[in-house]
Amino acid sequence: MDNLLQQIDIYKKEITEFSAEKDATEIFRIKYLGTKGVVKIVMAEMKNVPNEKKREFGQILNEFKIFAENKYEELKSVTRNQLPETSNQIDLTLPGDALPLGSRHPISIVKNKIISIFQRLGFAVAEGPEIEDDWHNFTALNLPEDHPARDMQDTFYISQNPAWMLRTHTSNVQVREMEKGKLPIRIICPGRVYRNETISARAHCFFHQVEGLYIAENVSFADLKQTLYFFVQEMFGQDVKVRFRPSYFPFTEPSAEMDISCLICGGAGCNICKHTGWVEILGCGMAHPKLLENCSIDSNKYSGFAFGMGIERITMLKYQIKDLRLFSENDVRFLKQFTGAV
Ligand code: PHE
Repeated sequence: MDNLLQQIDIYKKEITEFSAEKDATEIFRIKYLGTKGVVKIVMAEMKNVPNEKKREFGQILNEFKIFAENKYEELKSVTRNQLPETSNQIDLTLPGDALPLGSRHPISIVKNKIISIFQRLGFAVAEGPEIEDDWHNFTALNLPEDHPARDMQDTFYISQNPAWMLRTHTSNVQVREMEKGKLPIRIICPGRVYRNETISARAHCFFHQVEGLYIAENVSFADLKQTLYFFVQEMFGQDVKVRFRPSYFPFTEPSAEMDISCLICGGAGCNICKHTGWVEILGCGMAHPKLLENCSIDSNKYSGFAFGMGIERITMLKYQIKDLRLFSENDVRFLKQFTGAV
């Protein structure tokens, strides 16, 4: 019992010395008067007190409880009195601290915009691996080994196992989607791709693409053109002119490249369009029958079109950015300019 008395004395001393600092009142309440607080613990000791001492101890414990409660009231009044003082020091007319706003990366902004345009035409988003095998990146796309067009895309091979590579385009996703055998297919494939190019204002060893694929019965080049016209108008506005030039890709036949009238000079000729008035924005064409057969699709029954564009290129045109390296430098002075863009 002496222990209990000693302990109560220690608590009393603590309580007396408890100072009314900021937040102290609540801390005090929890520590001494809370459901698991000191007063409750001390009170619970009552059951260990021998009967003949119960009366005496009951009084001591009760006094202790009142002692703690009085201190709590005292703390409350002290902090209450402090309030006007502190609020006098707050100037409510000052403007609040501005919260810094984050911004999306311009590549993400444009990627999302491209996706939403094609989604309105019924295209679904498909994704696939960035580390790819030869079949999905090249051979299935009608680029067998030794095909000269493989040189068009300087490939990074995985040094431990050159059967694997970093994909050079997101066409690998198109192959994987066709192999699933569910037709028709109407997908766009956004993603990062890699090519071993010297880094400059116009080229990088990695960049982003959105490729598209539509396979169904009776798909024609007119469908391809209409789809891409719609895309360009939604992306760059109604006034932009479009032209197709014949081109070559092993996986499409016929193939074309699409140019839009230069957004900087409006077609009059400037540095950006190399004084031609036109800038190339994507490659496209009708799916090559060999590509369809490679993916076990009957090329007599089905036809389709494909297209592929670099997101960096589109973003540079849209926001008039002259150096592609800015996209990967993480300079906030550059990135901040896109705050609020969606
Ligand atoms: N895969 C091509 C590239 O990366 C783009 C492309 C896709 C061209 C589809 C035509 C059709 O350059």
